[in-house]
Amino acid sequence: MKHLIIYTHLNPNSFAKAVADEVESAAAGKGHEIKSIDLYAEKFNPILEFPDIQYSFMNGDAPEDVKAYQQQISWADQITFIYPLWWGHMPAMLKGFIDRVFSNGFAYTYDENGPKGLLEGKSVHQFINTGNPSEVLSENGMHDAIRKEQEGGIFGFCGMKAETTFFGNIIMSTEQDRKDYLNSIKAIV
Ligand SMILES: Cc1cc2nc3c(=O)[nH]c(=O)nc-3n(C[C@H](O)[C@H](O)[C@H](O)COP(=O)(O)O)c2cc1C
Repeated sequence: MKHLIIYTHLNPNSFAKAVADEVESAAAGKGHEIKSIDLYAEKFNPILEFPDIQYSFMNGDAPEDVKAYQQQISWADQITFIYPLWWGHMPAMLKGFIDRVFSNGFAYTYDENGPKGLLEGKSVHQFINTGNPSEVLSENGMHDAIRKEQEGGIFGFCGMKAETTFFGNIIMSTEQDRKDYLNSIKAIV
């Protein structure tokens, strides 16, 4: 299994970093071949600019950074995303990665039947940390909304099967809560 881990957080002491380390160690324990992307550390430019649109829709050349990240996506069978929930969404850094790297002609295309995903056969798992307790986000429909938008609207649109694990109440969590979350990762990866 070729496993690409995409981690998005600016704080090396974040719980997301602990999750990323645990995912990597669980994947290594299962014999996965691993590549990792740390978007903040790599100073990824998340701003969709005109050359990206020229590449995606006007037969232009792919920007060099986009090309390199697309090679990693193409390589992977499994892609794991790890990030905190910020204002009900993924961080803008990761949204920009998807805007630029999951481009028309690479991640999806259009034919006479409409849009068609080009990343079929790949699986995605997202680990999303939230400040709200999971019960709150489950009851107010936020978990369902995130699943619909991201599993369906982004990864499903590109032909991939996606699942999400939410780790809730991170800000007020106890040491034991965090240990329990980290211990649950091995069975998921
Ligand atoms: C800019 C910002 C926006 C946030 N928006 C939300 C939100 O919409 N819902 C939520 O449950 N928590 C929200 N939070 C709380 C984070 O999800 C929480 O800090 C994070 O899950 C803690 O995990 P970490 O250590 O990996 O960052 C927000 C935090 C920040 C900094």
